Amino acid sequence: NKIIYFDTIDSTNNYSKRIAKDAAHGTVIISEEQSGGRGRLGRNWISPKGEGIWMSIVLKPDIPPTEGMKMTQIAAAAVCNAIRGVTGLEAFIKWPNDLVVNGKKVCGILTEMAGELTRIDYLIVGIGINANNESFLEEFQHIATSLAKEKGEKVDRKTLILHLLKEFEGLYEDYINQGTLEKTLAIIRNYSAVLGKSILVIRGEQQLKATVLGIDEEGLLEVKYEDGKRELLMSGEVSI
Ligand code: BTN
Repeated sequence: NKIIYFDTIDSTNNYSKRIAKDAAHGTVIISEEQSGGRGRLGRNWISPKGEGIWMSIVLKPDIPPTEGMKMTQIAAAAVCNAIRGVTGLEAFIKWPNDLVVNGKKVCGILTEMAGELTRIDYLIVGIGINANNESFLEEFQHIATSLAKEKGEKVDRKTLILHLLKEFEGLYEDYINQGTLEKTLAIIRNYSAVLGKSILVIRGEQQLKATVLGIDEEGLLEVKYEDGKRELLMSGEVSI
């Protein structure tokens, strides 16, 4: 697979979008630094030089757009296994696109899709891992951390990237060949930070208390609100 490497770029997701039409399926874009890293919900993603893993994977799967968000689950499972395998840290998946270690965020995933109603042109899976970051802005200190901070020593980013890509490829192929998320689901259920827990489902201004009953075959979150109503969540914000 082709890997495109930058010292600095606005955002590996933005760059991916610019080249996606001509890029081969599986192209990986990595940058040491992002000047305009993007998070979900229009947030910024702070991406300092040399400290993290800021990467995007361009995918061109022959699946309907409604299945596109499964790539987020596959990526989360791959990152989880890679962190555990390489660092020994107990990483958990905060459904659907965050990874936490000791309750604090170490990784975020931003999947973006282009295409039509019935067909995906391309998917971009953006993965940001706080690998060796030493300091965080005051406002993030209680919610974010890095692998190095939790482990007490630096992490070899190259090794982590290799494991991550290998895991991702395996889970992706399994999904494409089987048509089910079986292996991915086993990981995201086993290492879930929310399963069986009481969470807050954030809907704009509203925060609703709910219990997580399960993660279904499609990767949707089954929750039960205090009034007894149940719902399947596709995405959106949950807080532990
Ligand atoms: C989130 O938790 O809000 C998602 C964060 C995603 C960050 C990654 S870093 C690589 C890629 N390029 C971006 O601009 N964002 C994603």
